[in-house]
Amino acid sequence: MAKIKAVIPAAGLGTRFLPATKAMPKEMLPVVDKPAIQYVVEEAVAAGIQDILVIIGRNKNAISDHFDAVPELEGRLQQKGDHSRLERVMKSSEMADIHFVRQGEPKGLGHAVLRARTHVGDSSFAVLLGDDLIDEHETLLPDMIAAHERTGAAVIALMRVAPEQIHLYGAAAVETTDVDDVVTVTGLVEKPSAEEAPSNLAVIGRYVLPPAVFDVLEHTQPGKGGEIQLTDALQELASAPDGPGVVGVVFDGRRYDTGDRVDYIKAIVQLAVDRNDLGSDLRPWLKDFASRL
Ligand code: G1P
Repeated sequence: MAKIKAVIPAAGLGTRFLPATKAMPKEMLPVVDKPAIQYVVEEAVAAGIQDILVIIGRNKNAISDHFDAVPELEGRLQQKGDHSRLERVMKSSEMADIHFVRQGEPKGLGHAVLRARTHVGDSSFAVLLGDDLIDEHETLLPDMIAAHERTGAAVIALMRVAPEQIHLYGAAAVETTDVDDVVTVTGLVEKPSAEEAPSNLAVIGRYVLPPAVFDVLEHTQPGKGGEIQLTDALQELASAPDGPGVVGVVFDGRRYDTGDRVDYIKAIVQLAVDRNDLGSDLRPWLKDFASRL
């Protein structure tokens, strides 16, 4: 398959993090010492994707500036001989070919993805949502790309969640296949109640989609929350008898949710504890701190 492009919707209002997100997009909130969106770009690059389109809303400048070169800062670090910081600063502007398009009105995830149509064209593409960080040791995205290459279907990532959590996600009705951890998706519901949910398999923020999804999104009507939902477009693909269909890759690896304040704090602690440069200082402090709670 030709090299696929990635689309990163980053036009949400970030209301859960106000006032931090009053003048800054939530995708720029630091997770340890990198903005959340950089982890997502790095994940795409690690999966072999070089062309990335970020769908932006208001406050676009911080995101596009982050992925741009900063000659004055780079020159200063060079002069000081601080090569490790220089490398870290330059990484974000050199690792991929990053493009931006405005969403205009925030009409939902499906609408944001449709804004990628001109850039993506008639090719399959990956969608990565910035609230979900997948640990860099996991192979979820490459596994999904492989599943798409095998089947031609729209591929979604699914994770088992507690029944009381399912209302926060899209939920999938599935049938098993011959391949472990790959299921056929027969139905999808956006953010159902625990009673309505077809299973406790939640859609997490990684998708590998065929271009046919754009035709569906063109006529997808506003759904849950009055927004054009990607889940509804995928439900249509899952139920169309002669379309590409939808398959799910069931993931049980390490995922960090940065969309909610408590989970965001947990993500920072977990990632910092795992880091060679920070973990050894943090671990004993955390143990002591926890023992005093
Ligand atoms: C979006 C999708 C939802 C999915 C979730 C994963 O919702 O609409 O189907 O389960 O991402 O993070 P959001 O969290 O943007 O409201």
